Amino acid sequence: MTKEKLLNLNKSEIQKQIMKIKKEKNCFIMAHNYIDVEIQEIADYVGDSLHMALEAAKSDADLFLTCSIKIMGEAVKILNPDKKVLMAHKDADCRLANMKDPSFLNKLKAEHPEAEIVCYVNSPAALKAESTITCTSANCIKIVEAIPDNKEIIFVPDCNIGRWVEYKTGRKLILPDSFCYVHDRVSIEEAFEVKKQYPDYTLLVHPECNLEVCKFADVVCSTSQMIDFVAKNDKAIIGTELGLFKQLQARYPGKNIVYLSSEMVCEDMKKNSLENVLTALISEEYEVNLEESIIHRTKESLDRMFEIVR
Ligand code: 13P
Repeated sequence: MTKEKLLNLNKSEIQKQIMKIKKEKNCFIMAHNYIDVEIQEIADYVGDSLHMALEAAKSDADLFLTCSIKIMGEAVKILNPDKKVLMAHKDADCRLANMKDPSFLNKLKAEHPEAEIVCYVNSPAALKAESTITCTSANCIKIVEAIPDNKEIIFVPDCNIGRWVEYKTGRKLILPDSFCYVHDRVSIEEAFEVKKQYPDYTLLVHPECNLEVCKFADVVCSTSQMIDFVAKNDKAIIGTELGLFKQLQARYPGKNIVYLSSEMVCEDMKKNSLENVLTALISEEYEVNLEESIIHRTKESLDRMFEIVR
């Protein structure tokens, strides 16, 4: 069948074709928690960016296809440098990651030469390579707490997570002014209104939300921690990208869950579609390539995180 004919198939036929070609090519498909459920259904692994990369490392597949955004494909490549890693969409990228040119860090490093540089995992490889330790949304507090009190800390690139860490640890961090537009756009007024409407629901928000919203929330946690919460509890307000809410609705149809804001949509994550996945699988286009030195330095920063938390 030609590529054009394949793309005229309906949803379940495209899914069947993906499963068939995936098997023929021994390909491992990963989808981020925010990706549409119809793509998650054909994925071998669904999770956050770090765990997609760690799962890929356990697989003996010949090919890896990442359905998410570029920085997450890079994370898969960094932990699997000898493997061929593809993206489902050629320009699904992260606005937070690209809000500042990675060279902004050079200025901060020159001003604070002794500082520890903590880099949130959702960042470009070029920035991670300049950091001394990586963190995730799930372990950012632990990582900062593990750094000796007398050390200055530069925390990049998300200032909202940085402010949340400052609030929780009492440490002063040197922060840039970049943020995730999807999370930052939720106001305290909106959070207050939703909580008023659902007073006995637990409000869970991602630490990429602004500090006022985080302080108001019942729980501030990563996407995987939100999934764990809903698995064990009922009545939750989901304060992160809408794709996670849809995933939870599909997984737990009987549970009472609502979203914090219908505006929490990552346009780049939404560039991923079943059609892109099929096309990328057939053509093996959009391979993630990184310089060896970047992979090496980034891996050192990740390994320091793994020494503290796994
Ligand atoms: P986690 O899945 O690591 O919580 O973060 C997801 C993310 O990209 C937030 O925007």
